[in-house]
Amino acid sequence: MHPAMCWRCALASSGTASVGSRLGERERALLERLEDGRFHSGEELGRGLGISRTAIWNALQRIRRAGVSVHAVRGRGYRLARPLELLREDRVRAALTQDGTVLVPVVDILPEVDSTNEYLKRLAFGGARSGTACLAEWQTCGRGRRGREWVSPFGANVYLSLLWRFSEGTAALGSLSLAAAVAVKRALDESAGGGVELKWPNDVQWHGRKLAGILLELGGEADGPCYVVAGVGINVAMPESRAADIGQPWADLRELAGQVSRSALAGRLLYHLGQVFYEFERRGFAPFRAEWESADAYRNAPVVLTCGSSRRYGIARGIGEDGSLLLEQDGETRRFQSGEVSLRSPASVTSDGIACD
Ligand code: BTN
Repeated sequence: MHPAMCWRCALASSGTASVGSRLGERERALLERLEDGRFHSGEELGRGLGISRTAIWNALQRIRRAGVSVHAVRGRGYRLARPLELLREDRVRAALTQDGTVLVPVVDILPEVDSTNEYLKRLAFGGARSGTACLAEWQTCGRGRRGREWVSPFGANVYLSLLWRFSEGTAALGSLSLAAAVAVKRALDESAGGGVELKWPNDVQWHGRKLAGILLELGGEADGPCYVVAGVGINVAMPESRAADIGQPWADLRELAGQVSRSALAGRLLYHLGQVFYEFERRGFAPFRAEWESADAYRNAPVVLTCGSSRRYGIARGIGEDGSLLLEQDGETRRFQSGEVSLRSPASVTSDGIACD
C-alpha cells in the first residue's frame, strides 16, 4: 500500500487512482465541482468527469469515508454539507513568493497521507533535498507531541511539513523548535493581525487555547550532517464534529480572523519557515529570542513544569539565549531544557510565588 499519493501522481502512477478506499484524482475532480456549494446532478457530474453515475457514486463514498459530508437529494443531486476550499498549488506558490521558492523549491500537495512528517521522513531517507515540503488535505494518522494524536480532518486545517538539512549536527538544534514557533507566529500574525501567543517551548495559543502545534523530528549525526522535519498543524476551521476528539482547550483561525485561505496561509508559513531556518543555520537562535519573548504567554506567571513524574513550581521568567526555560524558584532562576509548562491558578500560589499544594 502506498503511504501517500499525490493528486498529480495518482493517475500517472496507477491510472486507476480511485480504485479501493484511497482518495485520488477522480475524488479531487469531483470535489472541485462540488466546491461551489451548489447542487450537481449525478448525470452532470458523470458527464463532466467522463465517467458513469455509478463511478460518481463510488467516488462519493470514498469522499464520505474521508469525513466529508455530502447531501444527496432526489431530483437535485449532490451538494457539500459545509463549504470547502481545496488546497491549490498556484495559490500556495503565489503566497510563498519567488524568494520563498528559492528556499522551499518543492511542495507536494497530497489528498491524504498518514502524517506529513512521516511522508517527509521517508523522502529524507531517500535523499530528498533540503527545502522539500508537503501539505495534506487529510492526515489519517496525524501526530502531536508526546505521542498524542493531532486531529486532522479533511480540508479543514493546515497540515504541513518542511525538510531542512543542516551540516552542524543535531546537537546544535536544541532551540530550533522555538525559532520554528516564531515562523508560525509571523505567518499567523499576517492572517489574523496579532494576538497570537507562544507557550514554551513551541505551542502557539490564542487566549490560552491551542491554535497551532509544531512537531520537530531530527535525523542524522549529532555533530555532522543531519536533517529536521518540521511539522506544523494550524487549526483553521475545525468542524464541531471533531471538537470532542481534541483533548485540550483549542481555538481555530475562523474565530480570530473569519474565513482564511488555507493555501495562502500554507504558502506564507512555508515562506517564514524557510527564512527562519536559513537564518538559524547562520546565526543560531539569537535573532529570534526577543521576538519569541515578546509573544511569551506565561512571562512572570506562576507555572508548573512537568517532566516525567517530577513537577517543579515557580515563576516563568522568559527564555535563555539557548531557548531554555528560565524558572524562578525560591528567589533563584534555573534553566530547563525540557518539560511541559502549565499555568497555575493564582489561588494555589502564595504572594511570594510559592505553590501551596
Ligand atoms: C503538538 O502536539 O503540539 C504538535 C502537533 C504537530 C501537528 C503537525 S500536523 C503536520 C505534521 N504532521 C504530523 O503528523 N504532525 C505535524
